[in-house]
Amino acid sequence: ARKIIIDTDPGQDDAVAILLALASPELEVLGLTAVAGNVPLPLTELNARKIIELAGRTDIPVFAGCDRPLSRKLVTAENVHGTTGLDGIELPAPTTPLQAQHAVDFIIDTLRREPAGSVTLVPIGPLTNIATAFRRAPDIVARVEQVVLMGGAYFEVGNVTPAAEFNIYVDPEAAAAVFASGVPLVVMPLDVTHDALTSRDWIDGMRGLPGRCGPAVASWTDFFERFDKAKYGSEGAPLHDPCTIAWLLRPDLFQGRRINVEIETEGRFSTGMTVADWWGVTDRPANALFIRHVDRDGFFALLTERLSRLP
Ligand code: BDR
Ligand code: CA
Repeated sequence: ARKIIIDTDPGQDDAVAILLALASPELEVLGLTAVAGNVPLPLTELNARKIIELAGRTDIPVFAGCDRPLSRKLVTAENVHGTTGLDGIELPAPTTPLQAQHAVDFIIDTLRREPAGSVTLVPIGPLTNIATAFRRAPDIVARVEQVVLMGGAYFEVGNVTPAAEFNIYVDPEAAAAVFASGVPLVVMPLDVTHDALTSRDWIDGMRGLPGRCGPAVASWTDFFERFDKAKYGSEGAPLHDPCTIAWLLRPDLFQGRRINVEIETEGRFSTGMTVADWWGVTDRPANALFIRHVDRDGFFALLTERLSRLP
């Protein structure tokens, strides 16, 4: 199985991504590393522990990482995710303890311990933990198999400012460091994740699953949906973060291009923008596989098939 570390700020769509990974035997989840993002760190690490307990996977260690961006004040998204970060269904307080080790140290130690090129990082929140690990231990960058992240937007532009997507906007300096690191990068921007929209039928199917995870997913997506409905007038909730895991399982469901992507850190209106050279108008070398399309039916069929394996 492919070894992954999921770096996360749950988040309803983070939760679905984590469940999809836990339901997939092709992936071995070495740990969840929490970061401040959608809500502050004490809530993201708590939510991460609630999710592994929901899935009956208390063997998965959860680590707390950075509680604020590298050099900016934390911006959160309770307007999207609710005050707990995981509004929609109340889950029991977790009994699984948080690991004592800091998430950044766990990432560094794991990459040094495992064979080079055998661990993939899946960041689905701001990139603070990853950038801090790369900065503190530059030797690990060459040992990463791939970074498969949710973040950015180009044709679809922003969801937090007109130019920027939330994960990149919250910590643009961290994003800039990761995009400049030379690590093999796969990027799931809003351009693709806004096509991964839930349908009423799919949510009803989740609610009808016999276990407890399906109904939880239905309640989360119902809660999550109301934001996009109010804001963009669209039916359905975009399952941003699960696109990363789905790509690891079924890259054939996605289409993109290897291009140069730079992160704006000094814009007057555009801080946090992912400046994506889709048409190759610069001679800056490609540093990312930038995904733009997903086979929506295939994506939701995969989710249904996998999530129905969970308790
Ligand atoms: C991203 O921001 C968060 O609100 C979601 O969990 C996702 O990772 C989408 O812009
Ligand atoms: Ca997220």
